[in-house]
Amino acid sequence: MFGRRKGYEVKEGIVYLTFDKGCGQIEVLTDEIINVFSPLEREGHHSKAIEGDKSKHVYFEVKEGVDFLEIITASLVVRVYDHFHVDFYDKGGRLLCADYRGNREFATPISDKFIEFLIAEGHEVPHESAEDYRVQVIKRMEGDECFYGLGDKTGVLNKRHYDYEMWNSDIPQAHTDAFKALYKSVPFLITLRKEAVYGIFFDNPCKSYFDLGKEQDGYYLFGADQGNLDYYFIGGTNMAEVIRNYTYLTGRTPLPQLFTLGYHQSRWGYETSAEIRAIADKYRALDIPIDTIHFDIDYMDGYRVFTWNERDFGEPGKVIRELEKKGFKVVTIIDPGVKKDPDYDVYREGIEQGYFVKMPEGEVYENEVWPGEAVYPDFGNPKVRAWWADKQKYLVELGVRGVWTDMNEPASFRGELPEDIVFSDESEASTHAAMHNVYGHLMSRATYEGLVRHDGRRPFVITRACYAGTQKYSTMWTGDNQSLWDHLRMAIPQMCNMGLSGLAFVGTDVGGFGADATPELLSRWVQLGCFSPLFRNHSSKGSTRQEPWVFGEETLRINQKYIRLRYRLLPYLYDLFYETGNNGLPIIRPLVLHYEKDEECKNLNTEFLFGAQMLIAPVVEQGMNKKLVYLPEGTWYDYDTMEKHTGGQYLIKSAPIDICPVFVKAGSIIPNYPPMHYVGEIEVDNLTLDVYPGEGHYIHYQDNGEDFAYLEGGYNAYECSLSADETLIIKLIHKGYAKVYRQFTIRYKGREQQFEFNGDSLTVWLS
Ligand code: GLC
Repeated sequence: MFGRRKGYEVKEGIVYLTFDKGCGQIEVLTDEIINVFSPLEREGHHSKAIEGDKSKHVYFEVKEGVDFLEIITASLVVRVYDHFHVDFYDKGGRLLCADYRGNREFATPISDKFIEFLIAEGHEVPHESAEDYRVQVIKRMEGDECFYGLGDKTGVLNKRHYDYEMWNSDIPQAHTDAFKALYKSVPFLITLRKEAVYGIFFDNPCKSYFDLGKEQDGYYLFGADQGNLDYYFIGGTNMAEVIRNYTYLTGRTPLPQLFTLGYHQSRWGYETSAEIRAIADKYRALDIPIDTIHFDIDYMDGYRVFTWNERDFGEPGKVIRELEKKGFKVVTIIDPGVKKDPDYDVYREGIEQGYFVKMPEGEVYENEVWPGEAVYPDFGNPKVRAWWADKQKYLVELGVRGVWTDMNEPASFRGELPEDIVFSDESEASTHAAMHNVYGHLMSRATYEGLVRHDGRRPFVITRACYAGTQKYSTMWTGDNQSLWDHLRMAIPQMCNMGLSGLAFVGTDVGGFGADATPELLSRWVQLGCFSPLFRNHSSKGSTRQEPWVFGEETLRINQKYIRLRYRLLPYLYDLFYETGNNGLPIIRPLVLHYEKDEECKNLNTEFLFGAQMLIAPVVEQGMNKKLVYLPEGTWYDYDTMEKHTGGQYLIKSAPIDICPVFVKAGSIIPNYPPMHYVGEIEVDNLTLDVYPGEGHYIHYQDNGEDFAYLEGGYNAYECSLSADETLIIKLIHKGYAKVYRQFTIRYKGREQQFEFNGDSLTVWLS
C-alpha cells in the first residue's frame, strides 16, 4: 500500500519517512516504546487513551541498511522496509516481531454455495473473504505465540486462534465464548513467545478487528476501516515490564478510597428507601461487614439523571445521610440518556447550549433508553464534559460517595445509533463511528473530573463501557452477566485479561445479574468476589433475590465467612492498589504473568494470583467439592490447613462448599485488619502480619484512605524483610501520616505474638 521507501528525516524524536505512495512516522517515545504511524485519515494522533507528552526524548541512532532503515534505541532495533513493513529486534539481534509479507488468505475458505445455506438457515456469516481493512497490520506468527489482553472479552485466557472486534456492545443475551465484543474496547495485546514478549497497542478507537491466527496460522492481524495507522510496539524483558510500559503510556489506576475495597450490595429492584434501609439494617443485624449500597435507576425521578424520586425515596438525600450515620456509603447510578422533557432543566440546558449529539441535518438525535425518548450528551466536546462534571455537584450535595456510569456504550433501545450521527472530537466535528468506543471513556472522565472538583476525595466512578486508559478515571465491572456456572467460570480469564490490559480495578456482578442464582452458585461466587478488586453483589429486577441471607443458614454462613475474610485482607488489597498505581500490575493476575516460562501456566483458566503472594483456585463447577490446582515453582502453604506443598505440580484440594482453595507462597507477609463492620468503624493501630516461612520482602502502605494527601507524601511505608534464619525486620521507611501503628501482631507457624512498635523499627526472632 505504501510502495517503495524513499527518503527520511529525523526531527525531535520522530523519524519521518516517505514512500512512493504515502508517508509514515516512527517515533521513539522511550527505549522500549515505539509508535508506528501514518496519517491515513488525518494529521496527528488525537489519542483519547494517552494524555500529555509521553516521549522521554531518549537518544537513538538512525542507520541505512541494505534494504531497510534501522532505528536503534538502548533496548530495541527497529527496521523499516519498503511498503512500510516494520520489524522489531531486541538489542541482542533476536527477532521479536516481524511484519508478514504475504497476502491474507483463508486457511479454510467458505464456498459461495455454503454461504447461501448459512444465510438461508439464519446463521451469521462472519467473514466471506479475507478482504483487507483500510488500515491493516499483519504480523508473522513464529509458531509459539500466546496472546493475552484485549480488555474485556469472553472466552479463554489465551486468545490464540480466536478473533475479536472492538465495538462497545450492550448485548442482553447471555455472554458466550462466541461473542466478538462486549462493553469495553481495549485494543492492547500481549504476545508471549518462548523467547520473546511484547505488547501492541492499536490506538485506533474506530471499530477494529483482531484476528490472532484464526484466519491463518502463519500470521495475526489487526485492522480497521477508518482512522489512522497508529500503533505502539511495547517492549520489556517480561510481561510485567510490558504492562508497566503500556500503563506508563495510557495511565494507571490511581489509589482508590479504602472503603471502595470493602463489600458492596446492589440490586436493580430496590424501589424505595424503606427497602434499602431494611437491607442495610439486616447486614448489621447479621454481622456481615459492608460499606456500600448502590442505588440503581429507581432513585431518580422518572429516570431523569440528576433528579430524585421523592415519592419512593423521600426527601432528597435524607436516606443517604441516615445510612451514613451507620457507616454506609451510597453510590448512585447515572445514565447518559437525558430524558426529552422540556420541563426538565438538564434537557433544557443541553438543548440551549447545543450539548447533545445531532443528526447530520442538524436536529438533535433521539433514541430510547430508560427514561423513554432521550438525547445523548456529546462527551467529546470539552464544554459538555465540563457541564457534566458540574452536574456531579448535585449528587455530591446529596451525600453520594461514588457514581456508577452505565449504558455508556452508548446503549439504545431502538437500534444502534447510526454511524453518521454527529459527535465532537474536541473542537472538530466527528461521527458516532469514530467516537463510539470512547464515549464511555469520556463520560467517565467527565464524571471523575466533576468528583475531584466537587467532592475533593479520590473519585469513585464505576463504568460499564470503556476504552484503553479508562483506568485513570474509573473502576469497571463486566456488565450484565447472568447467574450461570458458565459465567462464573468465564469470570476468571475475563478479569485476568482485563488486568493485563491495564484495567486493575474490576469485578463481576457477584451472584450474576440476570437469570436466577442458586444457593450453591452464590456460595461459590462470593468466594471469587472476595478476591476480586471490586466486590459487589448485584442482580436484576425479576431475578431471584440473592442477598447473603435469602438462601438460608449455610449460604449465609459462607457469605459471612468470605466477606469477613475480605475485610481482614483489606490492607493487603490496599497495598496491591498502591503497587498498581506505581507499576500498573493488576490485582488479579493469571499465573503466566509471574511464571511466563512455565508451559502449564499459559492456558490456565481456572485459577489466578491475587497479588504475587496468594494463589486463588475457586471452585467454578456445580456439585464439585474438589479442585485440581496447579502450583507453580516454589513452596506453597495451604491457607486453611498450613500444609506445605512443593510447586511445579498439580494437586487435588478438597473444597467443600464453604472452602475456596487458597495457597500462599513461602516467604509471604500478609497484613490483616481486625474484624470490623465497615471501613472507618475502628481505628486500626495494631496490624496483624501473617508470616509464611521462607525469605521474603514486603512493603506495607498506610494513609488516611480518602483524600489526595498521599500524593504530597502523606503516607507511611513499612518495609518488612523476612530472612531464612527466621528473622523479621519491620522498618518505617517513609513517615508522612500521623497514625503510625502502635503494635504489630505476628502470626507464624500457628503462634501469635504481639509487639510494641517504637515508630522506627522492630526486629522479631520468629523461631
Ligand atoms: C443495565 C446495567 C445494570 C443495571 C440496569 C438498570 O442493565 O448493566 O447493572 O442494573 O441497567 O439500571
